[in-house]
Amino acid sequence: MCGIVGMCGNSDAVPVLISGLKRLEYRGYDSAGIAVSLPDGLESRRSVGRLSNLEKRLSTKPLAAAVGIGHTRWATHGEASERNSHPHFDQENRIALVHNGIIENYQELKAPLLEQGITFQSETDTEVLVQHLAACTQDGTEFLSALCAALQDARGAYALGILNQAEPGRLYAARLGSPLIVGRGPDGVYIASDVPAILPQVDEVIYLEDGQIARLSENEVELFDLQGNPVSPEWKQVELEENAVDSAGFETFMLKEIHEQTRVLQGLLDRYVSGEQVLLPDLNLNDEALRSIDRMMIVSCGTAFYAGMYGRLLIEKFTDLPVETDLASEFRYRDPKLSANTLVLAVSQSGETADTLASIKMAKEQGCPILSICNVEGSSLVRESQHLLYTHAGPEIGVASTKAFTAQLMAFALLALHIAKLRGDMPADRSHRMICELRGIPLCIHRVLEQREHIQSIAEKHHDGPSSLYLGRRFNYPIALEGALKNKEISYQHAEGYAAGEMKHGPIALINEALPVICICTDTEDEVAEKMISNLREVQARNGRIIAIATEGDTRLDGLAGDIIFVPRSLERFSPMVNVVALQLLAYYAAHARGTDIDKPRNLAKSVTVE
Ligand code: G6P
Repeated sequence: MCGIVGMCGNSDAVPVLISGLKRLEYRGYDSAGIAVSLPDGLESRRSVGRLSNLEKRLSTKPLAAAVGIGHTRWATHGEASERNSHPHFDQENRIALVHNGIIENYQELKAPLLEQGITFQSETDTEVLVQHLAACTQDGTEFLSALCAALQDARGAYALGILNQAEPGRLYAARLGSPLIVGRGPDGVYIASDVPAILPQVDEVIYLEDGQIARLSENEVELFDLQGNPVSPEWKQVELEENAVDSAGFETFMLKEIHEQTRVLQGLLDRYVSGEQVLLPDLNLNDEALRSIDRMMIVSCGTAFYAGMYGRLLIEKFTDLPVETDLASEFRYRDPKLSANTLVLAVSQSGETADTLASIKMAKEQGCPILSICNVEGSSLVRESQHLLYTHAGPEIGVASTKAFTAQLMAFALLALHIAKLRGDMPADRSHRMICELRGIPLCIHRVLEQREHIQSIAEKHHDGPSSLYLGRRFNYPIALEGALKNKEISYQHAEGYAAGEMKHGPIALINEALPVICICTDTEDEVAEKMISNLREVQARNGRIIAIATEGDTRLDGLAGDIIFVPRSLERFSPMVNVVALQLLAYYAAHARGTDIDKPRNLAKSVTVE
């Protein structure tokens, strides 16, 4: 969702801006633009749609300069059009600004500007900010002080990149609530929404804090707070490798990331399990602190919400703690009766999802300890949390989450075992057995990946209908929801996930010979298996097309399901990590057959940084 890149260097910035924007494409966008500082003023090129349109614009009207900013916009205020795309300028073209976030009081800031006769070119909140900033410089105030004043007036969230015509060798940046980093390398200094965007250019980065302003020139980075007081920069070495952000010969990032899951889950086990002990170094929760907790509240959005649903089931199974889950967008507006004994657990791949962040801020204000399961070090969520569990899945570029999700499930499994041990809720021998079972999961995933062609043939048979239904029970209910979400996100086929026991309360009315019904039936402990099979019979009786995920060697589905994807045996409580891989591939090949843009599905953003 909106990407920012900027460069202040000793060579042409334009190719770096374009390459950075390409690396930010995964965040989701519908228009793009750049602006540069030239000796005779600021100039920009903008265009709607994919970056290739901006590149075409640049090939007919080239730009070259050592200082510039670029932006990919995901429309919020105003349609996706050239005039709404960034960079935005003040009326006299003295300041160019790119923005990620929302200026909530833009109407309030706009009114006096309109009274002064300022005309606006766009419908955006961003243009109001740049016009307001220009107004703050009117009385000759030095630019940095004017920027501090303008930002003190703004309410909401922002990551900003700013060019000031009067200082052609400089680039300004600021952050409040939306991610922004500053980087440096041999050819200059940079800003970007994330590290991968400028990975080839930089060796070191600063993760800007909320309320910080950066002033960049070719060889210097200065930081200030919103009052203009200098702040010492804290540079960090970049540890990401370039091959972490290329597609490694796969036709899409999503397919690459689906295949990375064996390695990612094995990596989590290697990192967090030593012998028969789960060791979570960043958790920072001792037994005493854990024992004082009497309730857990898991908040998250999208795919991470389904991981939270799974986490709840597992923590409830392994410990005596009551656990609730909620969508962060709902939780933040509830009155959830929190106390210092409620551990609030946020789950997020990016660590930048606006609703998740707002939820934990609310919980913190009420004195709750905050634990986050997160994939991105240095992210806003990480900085707000006292207790951390990193998923170490590496950068996830495909918009539809895959490896980050299974890593969240594994993180929950390890966390549940750890909490159970510290609270004395699980005997050691049971805990050892669970760890042993978990160690088998990466191989099970590998075996599902080996069935890629079989799953592709099933997807090609069923991809063309208007809808599909996904059913699961207990641990696999969240997986039914996630399977349906994957399908609609990338194949654009409507799909609904349902608790199988609820089917009779509605979805059964949809079942006919055209409706694919994907049923997860891998319960080998037979606690919910019989019930699932009864549901299958109900579907069969109405001629639904049954696609079953079943355990190798299970013959109970013979004659019941039209298509079966057999997965290796695992405990029902851990089977979601295996089953979801089959559903990811099913959605992937349905999307492939439908010819969609799998890595960048329409209207979706990887990182939803606005409410
Ligand atoms: C967006 C992404 C999803 C993701 C959700 C939550 O909708 O497209 O893949 O699950 O945001 O994101 P988070 O980064 O908080 O996990």
